[in-house]
Amino acid sequence: MAVYEINGGKKLYGEYAVQRSKNSTLAIMCASVLTRGETFIDSCPDISDVNTLGAILTSLGARVVRDSRGLFIDTRNIYSTNLPEGLCSRLRASLFLVGPLLGRFGNVTFHGTGGCSIGSRPIDIHIDGLKALGAAVGEGDDKLIFSAAATKGEKITLKFPSVGATENVMMCAALSDGTTVIENCAAEPEIKDLQDYLNLCGAKIFGAGGGTITVEGVKKLHGGVEYCPIPDRIESGSVLLAVMATGGEVLINNVARENISKLTEKIINNTCKITVYNDKIYIHAKERPNGFGTLVTSPYPGFATDLHPQLIACGAVADGETIVKETVFDCRFKYVDELKRFGADVCVDGQTVRTVGRELHGAAADATDLRGGMALVIAALAAKGASRIGEIRHIERGYENLHKKLSLLGADIVRREDET
Ligand code: EPZ
Repeated sequence: MAVYEINGGKKLYGEYAVQRSKNSTLAIMCASVLTRGETFIDSCPDISDVNTLGAILTSLGARVVRDSRGLFIDTRNIYSTNLPEGLCSRLRASLFLVGPLLGRFGNVTFHGTGGCSIGSRPIDIHIDGLKALGAAVGEGDDKLIFSAAATKGEKITLKFPSVGATENVMMCAALSDGTTVIENCAAEPEIKDLQDYLNLCGAKIFGAGGGTITVEGVKKLHGGVEYCPIPDRIESGSVLLAVMATGGEVLINNVARENISKLTEKIINNTCKITVYNDKIYIHAKERPNGFGTLVTSPYPGFATDLHPQLIACGAVADGETIVKETVFDCRFKYVDELKRFGADVCVDGQTVRTVGRELHGAAADATDLRGGMALVIAALAAKGASRIGEIRHIERGYENLHKKLSLLGADIVRREDET
């Protein structure tokens, strides 16, 4: 397995190019099933989650080809709706294929999903939403069979603004008879990105980014579409927090600043200077950051749960206290024990994690999930001394060429295949 070897304590200087959004890309790949045609995802991030989802689509009969500009998907010849159990167990986004396969073929066999171990992650909201559109859900040995001769538009209120459930219902409703109204839906920027892609393919979807989405079902969608997803807001936030933790001056390119405003507000009121130009953020971290005080994660536009671990890692070296109350996932704290290996003063009480900053020392630690793994990278970059981070497969699910991009900022980080 590969590891990162990091010699920390160095300030970061230079330019960092943010990738296109992992979570938008994954949803758009699923939605391409509805078009029975060709989609080109421009600047598609080269990360393992995308490659795994591409392999799932290929196993169903699609053609998926990556070139230097992006990812080409042709879903015309999909012949199977039996989702492959092994591949699907690697990422949560495999679940987001259920809606489009049901909408196009009227049936799908689902053996379960996977992804970051950050809580129980049930799928009841997905099931309720698809049932509301007319799907019957049968249980077999370790599988669910969704079927619907025809799905019909309906008014649906989600019991929680689940990102994936919003996307699954949107995609299934796109080819349903009649109009679907999804209330209490997720408002993350990636939902608006999915709406924009689907409307480019001939869908009639309105309201994404707000609390209610309206989908006027159409008979068919078309391919022949090229689409460039929005910038990855979580990578942007991760890099800002890394520079705050290490110190330095970095120009971050390809940022959708409106999508990380809750974080930048907290940073603006801290010790570093940030200037925002169009799609760039310049951060100058001259001195040690102050603790961030108390933040509560919540669905967009609240503080992003996917930035909670990285914020705590930055808080672990800050002057003062940082507290995060995690309200979105029920067990997003596995990274904390690994963070303690760097000497961090951090503890969890129920759904709240608290740290009081201090100097950190190098350590050997293992990534437990994608964003928790990024938190360990931030800690290692800020720590004095040598660190080794294992299980980086978790990190490489969502961050493209992270070690190369950090090296360009002057970080002493090497990716090694671990011989053991
Ligand atoms: C998406 O996951 C993202 N993943 C996650 O990003 C992100 O953390 C999450 O949304 C919240 O923003 C992708 O887009 C691929 P949810 P998703 O359904 O859709 C509960 C990352 O780091 N819930 O909004 O799975 C669930 O347990 C990843 O990039 C139900 O109870 O998240 C959780 O507590 C991590 N029943 C809460 O809702 C359901 O049927 C939010 O989950 C579905 C969800």
